[in-house]
Amino acid sequence: MRATARAQPNIALIKYWGKRDTEQNLPAVGSISITLADLYTTMRVGFDESLSADSLVVNDTGNPVMLPRVSRCLDAVVGADRAPALIASESNFPIAAGLASSASAFAALVVAADAAAATHHSRERLARLAGQASGSAARSIYGGFVELANDDDAIEVSTLCPADDWPLSVVVAITATGPKAVGSTEAMETSRATSPFYARWVEQQNDDLDEARAGIGARDFARLAAVAEHNCLKMHSVMWASRPPMVYWNATTLECMDAVRQMQAEGIPVFFTIDAGPQLKAVCEPAAVEAVRERLAATEGVEAVMVTGLGDGARLIDDG
Ligand code: DP6
Repeated sequence: MRATARAQPNIALIKYWGKRDTEQNLPAVGSISITLADLYTTMRVGFDESLSADSLVVNDTGNPVMLPRVSRCLDAVVGADRAPALIASESNFPIAAGLASSASAFAALVVAADAAAATHHSRERLARLAGQASGSAARSIYGGFVELANDDDAIEVSTLCPADDWPLSVVVAITATGPKAVGSTEAMETSRATSPFYARWVEQQNDDLDEARAGIGARDFARLAAVAEHNCLKMHSVMWASRPPMVYWNATTLECMDAVRQMQAEGIPVFFTIDAGPQLKAVCEPAAVEAVRERLAATEGVEAVMVTGLGDGARLIDDG
């Protein structure tokens, strides 16, 4: 009744922002992401009838705040009549700073829980279960370039292109550490309820998805770069125009954007994307990764840079 799984975070190039059903956590829009290789969360789940309740340890520290969401996810995977569980997770990157730690955590959680309880769900079902816990987590079940299609009554997640078929690199510029002010769950509801741009955002998403899918299909870096930056800035415009406004960037985030613009002007194949946090993620062709890493590391205010390639989906690493 014990198992350990590992999953990597993913970074959306065409973003999920907004829900059409908060009860089932169904997104209002489809999204496309890349699953990373070198940042990961390892999740151990053990069901034990002798325990009196679930308990959660994150990076060696008890975490009662996240526990209810984790327990609900286990109920969904295994059934509410399950045994209590001991859940322990470790991530090798800063959590809750706009680096999609919830995506890798919930993807690893459903895979570990499914193995520990021998529920034998299909990969498709695991993605839906992960997505119920956190929308972006559904994408970390799969590797490479991943599309989450937003169908009428559910989501369909699939790999558009495996990591090895178009091995791009990602340089993450850490511009601030520590948890963000407003979590994305709350922030996207505020946008839905108050942003005058929200309806247009939802309306235009299919065009951006089509364009990104075509760019990925043709391995056309410039085409993907243009639509990914546009989609990212559009999402942030929705946030900025919300009430209250939500601005996740800091001055260093803008410095990093400027550094990317300069590199682009020099002909370096790189583009940026930014999620609900102050870190900037620069996506580039592998030959450019050293130049991009150096430039971002030298940008004023950048605390650290992390470099990674693209990787595989969530998997079991120990089922005993
Ligand atoms: C900006 O998946 O964290 O990273 O479903 O409420 O848990 P919940 O939201 P979450 O939102 C991710 C938002 C984003 C864009 C993206 O990853 O697509």
